[in-house]
Amino acid sequence: MKGILLAGGSGSRLAPLTAVTSKQLLPVYDKPLVYYPLSTLMLAGIRDILIISTPEDLPRFRALLGGGDSFGLTLSYREQPSPGGLAQAFLLAEDYLEAESCAMVLGDNLFYGSGLSRLLRAAAVRAEKQARATVFACRVRDPERFGVVSFDECGRAVSLEEKPLQPQSSYAVTGLYLYPPGVSRLARTLRPSARGELEITELNALYLARGLLDVETLGRGYTWLDAGTPESLFEAGAFVRMLETRQGLVLSSPEEIAYRFGWIGREALFRSAQRCAGTKYGEHLRTLAEEETLRRDKNAARRQV
Ligand code: DAU
Repeated sequence: MKGILLAGGSGSRLAPLTAVTSKQLLPVYDKPLVYYPLSTLMLAGIRDILIISTPEDLPRFRALLGGGDSFGLTLSYREQPSPGGLAQAFLLAEDYLEAESCAMVLGDNLFYGSGLSRLLRAAAVRAEKQARATVFACRVRDPERFGVVSFDECGRAVSLEEKPLQPQSSYAVTGLYLYPPGVSRLARTLRPSARGELEITELNALYLARGLLDVETLGRGYTWLDAGTPESLFEAGAFVRMLETRQGLVLSSPEEIAYRFGWIGREALFRSAQRCAGTKYGEHLRTLAEEETLRRDKNAARRQV
């Protein structure tokens, strides 16, 4: 499965913060926003990822993330000349995806929760083996701001609407989508909506109508945040700070995920720690690498006795 990280848009709701930089490069507490959705794709086991952004911002993502070596990833980059809608990503990525299944995450979405990796990997298997698409729904106070899914009395998804004035349910569709091979072909059949965009909700509705869409509900154990306004960006930072301070962990560190999955070695982790020396983030990576060294030394000593 390949990944797409959609990180374009004008970030107008965050002006003037976004006057000279991309929204997805703004800080969420101790790391750039884009690290969070990147980590989400990695948790799904995806290592080949296309980053799509505006012609102005793309070089900045390239400067930050490079070819993906320090995360054990292969990163590619593509311009979206103008914001033609979320589903346009599949037209831009058609040759990149070839005949592979894919997961797309929005660059301003942040997911957190125990068991997330298992959930994502199961959806990836369904896309690859059963040609099924998966979206994730989350209960929100203000569903009219999102794509909304409604369910019948048996809990089956029956309708999808983009920013309805009168939502049929309180469940928003989050910015994480998994599709089987052929999604670009289906996206080609879409026509621009009244607001001139190729709507992801219409694409999902095509899968729903064919009985090929799974809607996974993220329950109380999960947190989903989008960071598109000053308020939500601040809340996301406060959330990450609270958990990291309380638990002494770092949330959504691509280097840590890559290391734990065995995609990078200890040397690469040390190098990343060195690059962030003097920060809590760098300290966390260094401790992680040292713990592993200590564990190996202990095991080696035990074997010698
Ligand atoms: O966050 C989840 C929601 O994301 C879903 O519930 C909605 O169904 C979906 O349409 C989307 O709604 P938004 O109102 O958040 O969409 P927005 O236009 O703000 O775009 C989301 C992100 O994608 C944003 O960071 C900018 C980026 N983007 C957007 C467009 C339209 C692009 O990179 N290219 C684009 O063409």
